[in-house]
Formats: sequence, C-alpha cells, structure tokens
Amino acid sequence: MKKSNCTIMLMLGLLLANFGTFAQLMQWKEIASGVWKVSVGKPEAYNLLTAAGVQPNTNALKNMGTTRFPLDQNEISVQIRDGKTYLRFPLERGEQLFGFGLNFQTVHQRGKILQLHMDHYGNKDNGRTHAPVPFYVSSKGYGVFVNSARYINVYAGTAVRTNSKNPPLLLDRNTDKNWQAQPYSDAVEILVPAGGVELYVFGGPSTMEAVRRFNLFNGGGCLPPRWGLGFTQRVNRLYSDKDVQKEAAEFEEKGYPLDFIGLEPGWQSKSYPCTFEWDKTRFPQPAAFVKDMLNKGVRINLWTNPYVSPEASIYPKIAPFTGSHSVWVGAVPDLTIPKAQAIYWGQFDKDHVSIGVSGYKIDEVDGFDSWLWPDVATFPSGVSAEQMRQTYGVLVMKQSTDMFRKHNRRTYGLVRASNAGGVSLPYVIYNDNYSHEDFITGLINSGFSGTLWTPEVRASKTGEEWLRRFQSVCFSPMAMINAWASSTKPWTFPEVAAQIKEISQLRMRMMPYWYTEFAKYHFEGTPPFRAVNLEPDFKTELKKELLNANLEENPYAVAVNKEIKDQYMAGEYLLVAPMFTGQTSRKVVLPKGKWYDFYTGQLVGEGEVITVTPGLDKIPVFVKDGGIIPMMPVMLHAPQPNQKVDLEIRHYGQKNAQYKLYDDDGETFDYEKGQFSWRTLTAERQTNGEWKGTISNPENGKPNTVGNVTWKFMTP
Ligand code: GAL
Repeated sequence: MKKSNCTIMLMLGLLLANFGTFAQLMQWKEIASGVWKVSVGKPEAYNLLTAAGVQPNTNALKNMGTTRFPLDQNEISVQIRDGKTYLRFPLERGEQLFGFGLNFQTVHQRGKILQLHMDHYGNKDNGRTHAPVPFYVSSKGYGVFVNSARYINVYAGTAVRTNSKNPPLLLDRNTDKNWQAQPYSDAVEILVPAGGVELYVFGGPSTMEAVRRFNLFNGGGCLPPRWGLGFTQRVNRLYSDKDVQKEAAEFEEKGYPLDFIGLEPGWQSKSYPCTFEWDKTRFPQPAAFVKDMLNKGVRINLWTNPYVSPEASIYPKIAPFTGSHSVWVGAVPDLTIPKAQAIYWGQFDKDHVSIGVSGYKIDEVDGFDSWLWPDVATFPSGVSAEQMRQTYGVLVMKQSTDMFRKHNRRTYGLVRASNAGGVSLPYVIYNDNYSHEDFITGLINSGFSGTLWTPEVRASKTGEEWLRRFQSVCFSPMAMINAWASSTKPWTFPEVAAQIKEISQLRMRMMPYWYTEFAKYHFEGTPPFRAVNLEPDFKTELKKELLNANLEENPYAVAVNKEIKDQYMAGEYLLVAPMFTGQTSRKVVLPKGKWYDFYTGQLVGEGEVITVTPGLDKIPVFVKDGGIIPMMPVMLHAPQPNQKVDLEIRHYGQKNAQYKLYDDDGETFDYEKGQFSWRTLTAERQTNGEWKGTISNPENGKPNTVGNVTWKFMTP
C-alpha cells in the first residue's frame, strides 16, 4: 500500500474508533443551595437515590447559604465509551480525600484504588464494605457523589495521564532517591459500568459543610427515638420468652440500664431461610410477651435476614416476585416491586410491629459472595443482581421505616448494608469482625458516608478488654452489647463491674446531649460521630515533608497531617480518645482552641499533641472551650414520651457559650409535622466573675420535657 493511502486509512480508523466515544459537554445545574447536578449519557432509572426514595431537605440547604461551584468545571471530564462512563475530577497538590464509604483501616483515601462493592468487610479497605458509598470529600472543602447502583471503580489520585497538565517529575530510579513507585497524580478517575450517570457536586466552603450538604441532600440524618440511645442487649438464639424476661429482670435488679433486647434467629420457627413467624414453643404468646416487656420499659428488636423459607406462610404469595437464585435455599424477594413489598412487610406488620415490636436487626444483606445471590441472578423487576446487591440494605431500611411511620412510632435498628440514600434511615451498621481499633476507624469514617456504626461489645478475654470496649460503645450511636453467642453480661467480670455500671450510667445521663446531637444530624446534616479532620481550622494537607517529618520536632503540624484513626468527635463539643487493651497511655491530637478534661473540667491543652495516662476507669474525653453538655439524672430506661426530666447543664472552659437544646415527644414522627422545639441554653460570666446559666422559655404549644434545671460550671 502507498504511504498516503496508509495515512488516510489510519486517520479513518482513528475517527471510527472515536465515533463511539464522546466527551460530554456538561451543564451543571444548581438544584439546591450549594448542590450541583449534571446528567451525563443516559443515566439508569434505578439508582441509589431512587432506591431510597430520597427527599432532599432543600430548606435546610437554603439556610446554609450560597457558595460557589468549588471546582474548575473545565477540569471535570466525562466520556461514554463501550456503554461505560469514564469520569475525571481534578485533584490539586496538597489535597487530602475522605470517604468512599465505610472504611475500617484508613481515613485518608488519596492514593487508593477501590471497587465500591457491597460486601461483608474482608479486613481490607479495597471498596468492598457494608456501605460502599460513592461519595468523597476533599480537604479543600467540596464533595462529589456518583449516583449509581453499580460496582464502581475508583482511582483516587493514583493514575497518571500522558496528557496531564501537572505531570509528575520524570526521575531515574538508578540514581534518584526521590523516585516514587506511585508518581504524583492530579485526578480522581472513576469508571461506572453504565452508559450514563447522575453526578453531584457539593460546595463547602469547608469540608464539614460539604458533608452537611450531602447529608441534607439525602434528607438529613436519622433521628432515633430517645430509647434508641439507651442500652441494648442481644440474647442467645434459643432463648425463650421466660429466658428473655429473666435476663431483663437481672439488668433491672443489678442496676444496669436497658432499653431494648434483641432476639437472635431462634424467635422464628425456622431461620436461614426465615419464616418471619414466631416459634410457638419458645414464644407461645408473642403479643402478651412483647406487652409485658414494654411494661417493664424494655422493647423487643428482632433479628432476621430477608430470605424467605419455602415453609413460610407468605411463600406461595411472594414466590412470583422473587429472584432467580436463592440464598440458603430461601427466596429473595424483589423488594423494588410494590406487590412484593406489600406481602413481605404485611407479614412483619401483622406479626411483629402491630404487637409492639420496636425494630429489627436486618442481617446478611451485604454479602458474602459465596452466600449471596450471584451477579448472574435475575429479578422480575428487571433490576440487575448488581444493582439489587448495592441497594438491598437501603430497600429494607426504607420500607421497614415506612411501616413504622404508619404506626407513628419511630424505630432504631441494625443493618449490615447501607449506601448513599440511607442517610435518613434509622439504622446502625454492624459486622462480624471484632477489632476494637478498626471499630473506631469505622466510627470515624461513618461520618463521611452518611452512615452510623456501632463499636459493639461482644466478648472479651479479660475484664480490662471488656471495660475498654464498653467505654467506646458508650460514646457511639448505639450502646450495643451483642453478647448473644458469648453470654457475657455487663457484670460478668466482677473486677470491672462497678466501672461498667458507672460508664453505662454516664451514657444514660448524657441522653439529652446525644438526642440533641442527633437532631442536628437530622435538621442540619452534622454527623454526630465524625473525624477530627472536620473540625474548623483542622487543615489537613498532603505535605510530603510533614508526612515524613519527626513528630518530636513539630508535633502539632505533623500530627494534623498524619492519618488520625483512633480519636473522634462525639457531637459538637466532645473529643473521644479510646484506650485499647494493653495501653496505659496514649497520644491525643487536640485541635486548635482550648480543651478541658470532661471529668474534672481542668484545662488539658490547645492545638497540640498531649499524652494521657487515664487509668483503667476512664476513657479520655475532652471538651471544647465553651462546651455545654446537658445531662439528666441516672435512669435505667429512656424517659417515656413527653416525660419531664430534670437537667444538669454542664459548662466547660472560659468562653461564654450558647447551645440549642432539642426537644420533642421522643417517640413519634410528629416532629416531621413541626412538633418539636429548640431551647437556648446560655452560659455567661458576670461582671463579678461568677458564671450564670439560663434557659430560654418553652414555646407555647410545643413539646416540653424539661423539668428543673441546674447548672454546673466545671472549670473554675
Ligand atoms: C450473623 C450476624 C450476627 C448474628 C448471627 C446470627 O450473620 O452478623 O450478629 O446475628 O448472624 O446467626
């Protein structure tokens, strides 16, 4: 062939190859204050937001004010090729990334390659987790969300394009010690295996504001009933009604708080797969049993997995609406189909919720691969097995919550799978792993992914371990004793039984604080448990010299930039630094501003790294200057709806301060219709040097559960 012909053929070939490719022109539209959306290619009708039926809280977003589009739009690129969507978002030097779902061992995500894939966490932060949320935030103060229920590949600042505007330096490995195996990358690149997708960008200007906008866009965080913030114990799977009653009585007699008991699989006549029907031998009179427990102030939570036994009474009706493959020989209901929902939840409603059951632990909706339906499975709705897997947790959370809403009773339960869209659904994630350290890192990451996580206590080799784990779970979204298999009780280790009681009582006393912090999650989008990186002025920057620097020389600057995986914020004011078994002292990074010891009110430091030696009895907790912590008297059960409760309001530090205390009936959905109130707590130092605390008047016609108020100024 002649040379000129050859060139023409080549050009034609290139043209054709590019024909199926198109770089999409993007028209970002501000759909709520500080939230921009673009649809590229042909987005699939079924996605994370539709599965959850998300209703953005546009008013709360509006109240956050306006902000500019946080990225250079020209630097965002989208291509649709081979029926897949290729995305690229810019990444600057020094930027750190957080999020990409519920990770357990890492907080910094820059430099990660992940496949966001629903699964039981397998001890590696590779994207396979209980909440593989396609959302990330940057230390530069913005967030990006890919609304797809597909397995998404993420290259979070790892890949280097040959036409990059900011290429890494070309170095010679033979002679240059700065040569890097992972050269500098200037982008987050994402591959979505679908011919289009909806993208969202959340403005800041701070990282916290980007997180809040994401949460509010998802409808705001969940607001548990007050009792959800008390203690829960799970009991052995073959316990009978009498055993459960005896167990609750023991808690009461020994003076350990308890708000709900979880029944493991044996309450059902058959499980794995499940009938969702009471076992008549162990629970001959379920309605009377549930009622009796309620009278004693203890609610019942039921374990289940969703897989329907051929022996379940609903089986013949639901069978036409189930998937092609079974799980443990049980049918998998296609819960995207309204008829399937009606049959399925109809059973739950009739046999459980109508007789007073308070919630569920919905198990096994995440994986493992060898148990779950395979990706080749099909479902009658046409939703693919992959999409079903990414969203099944969200479907069961949403539909069960709606069932409780019909009874105007809030629920608070456990689930092993969530995703974007699940933010407002009142469930806490748990799993079968048991590393205390990973549990704390999970708690930190839950705040970046719109989820809640419990560092449950399950079993322990020693009293020390039992106490250390117990201390952490008391500063978490759900104080769960998941000791159904080990039968460990709070008092099992006599050498720490008194300390366990004390920390449990503290958890209960702090209920007004926890409840208000959850209300802020709901109304303002602020995650109640989160990383210190979200604190104002906590500027995480990726500076190589700092990452390799010596902690002794410039401790604070170095510490801020290192990954902080073992301390977290609990609500507006508290910094919690758990102790792990075997530790007698630890380092704590105190963000800027003064910090005070929670127990004594003494100043401990400001913007520095301190070492603490708290002894076995205490979990280190520090309070921000001007921190206000409303507390109630010790109670073994959460207050009843509308019950008046006295408050002791603590103030810490030197700053005058104000805190908005949230109030409602604590149990119904009436708050969604405006039946709630905020009271302002004010602490001010008078001219004579004395502190004075006041509370604003209750609002007429609004819930008011505040009894007598006393103030305690903790810092002299
Ligand atoms: C597991 C679950 C455990 C427990 C158990 C009961 O899959 O994670 O917490 O409920 O099932 O069989």
